[in-house]
Amino acid sequence: MSYIFLNNKIIKDSEAKISIHDRALQFSDGIYEVILLNSGNFIDLDAHIERLFSSLAMLKIKLSFNKEELIAKIINYQKKIKEHNNALYIQITRGTAKRVQTLDIDSEANIIMYFLNNKSLDKQDILNGFSAITHDDIRWKKCEIKSTSILANLLCKEKANELSACEAILIEDNHVTEGSFSNIFIIDENNNLITRPIDDGRILPGITRARILKLAQQNNINIDIRKYSKTELFSAKEVFASSSTMLIRPIIKIDEQIIGSGKTGDITKKLISLYQDFLDKS
Ligand code: PDD
Repeated sequence: MSYIFLNNKIIKDSEAKISIHDRALQFSDGIYEVILLNSGNFIDLDAHIERLFSSLAMLKIKLSFNKEELIAKIINYQKKIKEHNNALYIQITRGTAKRVQTLDIDSEANIIMYFLNNKSLDKQDILNGFSAITHDDIRWKKCEIKSTSILANLLCKEKANELSACEAILIEDNHVTEGSFSNIFIIDENNNLITRPIDDGRILPGITRARILKLAQQNNINIDIRKYSKTELFSAKEVFASSSTMLIRPIIKIDEQIIGSGKTGDITKKLISLYQDFLDKS
């Protein structure tokens, strides 16, 4: 039996009810976050909450409590249901209102939280690497908002699933934006760690991405934040995807083409180990 958080109540999920007039059901008018819980500790919780409030602000969704109060609710929920691992899903919608085509409505946000079943993969399976596909970036142009409107992402991911690949790497104007549900990094022949900037709204400012960049900087790995092309992706020495649930996933094959040596490279291995140390200390 799982217990979910719905508008300040912790109830059995079979008893949780939400109106058919909820704005997320009608317009995908909501935002979400996915936060890893590792041995009872939320990973980079403050950064996730910052991003959640930034998504709310960009969509002008009003919440009747502040960041500290939300964090207190999250921790209280986790303690009450005694969850120690997996990942917390939070969704906040504009609320329940008539289907009017304006954002300026007088509604109270609906907030839903529950834990996703997030099985961590075996260490060796991760190091064995994964395959990916490329896919046209068919999404809207406001990817910095963690909106619940992610059907385009899902279509791209589904294509990857059909081809037994772990991720779809999205391409726009011959350049990599990000993965369907992850950020993408490449490492060039001079061992530069390259990832796309977050300032043009074409990618989600990933919390794992930011953490990896911090770890790389602290460990003298050269960072180059810039747009990179599809050609550079295929000629990279190493490629990996990052997200709160995938963590760091080495990509050794894209569209059936081998990347680098066809094995997880040294810099990716080093970052996996640094990220694991960070998780252990969090
Ligand atoms: N997705 N880019 C996209 C489009 C994403 O959906 C995600 C994460 C990321 C990585 O962000 P972060 O490191 O903050 O998790 C990048 C989550 C995990 C999901 O939708 O399940």
